[in-house]
Amino acid sequence: MYRLSPSTYTAILALSIFTGGAHAAGVLNLYSSRHYQTDEALYKTFESQTGIKINRIEAAEDPLIERMKGEGDKSPADVLITVDMGRLLKAQQLGLFQPIQSELLKARIPRELRAADGTWFGFSLRARPIYYAKARIDPKTIPDYESLVQPSLKGKICVRSGSHPYNISLMSSIIAANGPDRAEQWARGMVANFARAPKGGDTDQIRAVAAGECDIALGNTYYFARLLRSGTPEDKAVADRVGVVFPNQSGAHGRGTHVNVSGAGVARHAPNRANAIKFLEYLAGESAQRFFSDGNNEYPVAGKSGNPALRQMGDFKRDTLPMDMVGKNYAAASQLFDRAGWK
Ligand SMILES: [Fe+2]
Repeated sequence: MYRLSPSTYTAILALSIFTGGAHAAGVLNLYSSRHYQTDEALYKTFESQTGIKINRIEAAEDPLIERMKGEGDKSPADVLITVDMGRLLKAQQLGLFQPIQSELLKARIPRELRAADGTWFGFSLRARPIYYAKARIDPKTIPDYESLVQPSLKGKICVRSGSHPYNISLMSSIIAANGPDRAEQWARGMVANFARAPKGGDTDQIRAVAAGECDIALGNTYYFARLLRSGTPEDKAVADRVGVVFPNQSGAHGRGTHVNVSGAGVARHAPNRANAIKFLEYLAGESAQRFFSDGNNEYPVAGKSGNPALRQMGDFKRDTLPMDMVGKNYAAASQLFDRAGWK
């Protein structure tokens, strides 16, 4: 009997996966760092609508970008999908994307949520509002990010590390709004008001507010929406004790609450380019936008969300600073955190 060596077998398997095997509509090789269970249904629907089979290669954000870079023009990647503006910009700067033209994407996605050169597109939004202890804080006293540095909040703020992209993006937007000097003063003011050294993720900060370790936190909206939708008594108790302020809605700092995108682009060397464009257009469509919102508690980039938790949190004005610009201040924001001691 003829036998294949394991390595030959692997090579043939890989070849059949990446060239589409017997599927007439072909395949799409998707490099994804979105690790949300609910994305499963998002991809399945695309497969059944188009007949195109999705091969998913999943890894954490930065290793995935490194892998694509290392593969160079041999990369099987058709689409890279990732969270946070910083990662999209990094992939763009490394030349991992190719620009595409799509009237549908231009029509569906607001200009500030996609790259000017057509290399990447934002498909869902997350905001970064302020959370507060309902029992101890009057929300009227914290109308904007700028108000968090008031001396009366000394020892009351919990926030994650300054090296995390969610905070770096927020800092980038504050540099764009107020200039580097005032932005640095703000970061120092925040550090002066910390209840503890930064540790943990966004949900940990919100839990710490509920537990009385601090009175104020920053965190992405989908984490709080998850707590609101959770069935456990512990999570319900947290959501009951904590309120949300969407900052910067009016007045001198009324530029809108900071938002970030989860986005994707067509890979520079995409072997299945047409399928890749089809997939991006699918992500901007109504059904996919609903998956992002209902499934992962993100805001759609097109249309309104019907997600009950997001509706409960309320409508808000978002900062419309172009995502490109948020990305441009990234390095400066990182250095600023270092200087301010926001570890
Ligand atoms: Fe997250």
